[in-house]
Amino acid sequence: MKNAVRFGLLLAAAAALLLSQQQGQQEGAAAAPTGPAQPVPYSHKFHISMGLKCAECHTNPPPGESMGIPSVAKCMTCHMSVAKDKPTIQKIAAAAKEKKELPWVRVYQIPSYVAFSHKAHMDAGATCQRCHGDVAKRDVLFKEGDISMGGCMSCHREYKASNDCGFCHEAR
Ligand code: HEC
Ligand code: HEC
Ligand code: HEC
Ligand code: HEC
Ligand code: HEC
Repeated sequence: MKNAVRFGLLLAAAAALLLSQQQGQQEGAAAAPTGPAQPVPYSHKFHISMGLKCAECHTNPPPGESMGIPSVAKCMTCHMSVAKDKPTIQKIAAAAKEKKELPWVRVYQIPSYVAFSHKAHMDAGATCQRCHGDVAKRDVLFKEGDISMGGCMSCHREYKASNDCGFCHEAR
């Protein structure tokens, strides 16, 4: 009897261990997505937690196709004084001083034969999250949003926007 109880406990413990290992693996897989190595480890999560808004850095200048990547001058509005002793910040300061930009590696890019306008999609009510995932929760960005042809077309179907080949591929 005593042995049976012990065996039962052992089984329960083994099952719990297995479960925690599986959870660990799942969390591990979700926590270690790969994005390109960037010139400095800029964290969206941290900077947005301070209350910065997407539009302060991604200005969507006319005609509105691009969102743009902010200039180092924008970073220096704070980092002129904030954390200026950190090597990462000194790298930004050095670029700003030489009037150069940091060589950010692009995460989302479509071929030039595809027409795309951020402004048209913002006007249609699409959120950044829909195409780029939960940027505000990411220390490192990786391509988690689906900007493949299939991804574009399934949303066009959903919103009853055109899926004619020429809608996205015509020379505009
Ligand atoms: C509104 C002010 C503000 C702006 C704008 C800003 N940052 Fe920051 N940043 C901070 C603060 C505050 C910290 C935390 C500093 C600390 O840990 O002492 C920080 C931390 C960092 C760090 C980590 C430093 C380290 O090595 O610990 C990096 C890298 C960084 N920022 C890059 C950037 C880049 C690149 C830009 C421009 C795209 C930028 N920041 C714009 C306020 C700002
Ligand atoms: C303080 C400035 C700053 C703010 C605020 C900011 N970003 Fe960024 N963003 C950057 C910088 C710098 C990069 C380039 C480095 C990188 O990819 O992490 C970038 C890159 C991106 C990219 C990848 C572009 C590409 O193709 O490489 C996306 C998508 C993006 N940001 C979305 C957002 C969204 C959504 C928000 C608001 C939730 C936001 N950003 C807020 C500075 C900012
Ligand atoms: C309907 C899908 C969609 C939505 C919504 C969207 N994006 Fe994008 N984003 C893209 C695509 C596609 C690219 C690649 C564009 C290219 O290569 O020309 C891109 C590229 C970018 C880039 C890289 C620079 C550039 O403009 O090419 C940034 C930064 C960015 N997006 C930020 C944002 C932010 C911030 C929002 C919300 C305000 C947003 N995006 C909403 C699809 C989207
Ligand atoms: C959130 C869903 C959604 C996603 C994702 C999406 N679209 Fe759209 N798209 C729309 C809607 C809605 C319109 C507006 C249709 C209208 O005005 O009739 C639109 C309009 C367009 C237009 C016409 C814009 C203009 O200048 O008038 C093009 C081109 C386009 N999308 C290409 C793309 C491409 C390429 C992708 C993938 C990288 C994409 N779309 C992803 C919903 C989406
Ligand atoms: C809603 C926008 C949209 C529509 C509509 C659309 N495409 Fe595309 N197409 C894309 C995007 C985005 C890509 C680039 C995908 C990538 O980056 O790999 C693409 C890529 C392609 C490619 C290159 C594929 C490759 O593997 O190199 C071909 C060929 C193509 N499209 C043909 C078509 C045809 C034919 C139609 C009509 C049936 C069509 N597309 C309709 C958005 C669209």
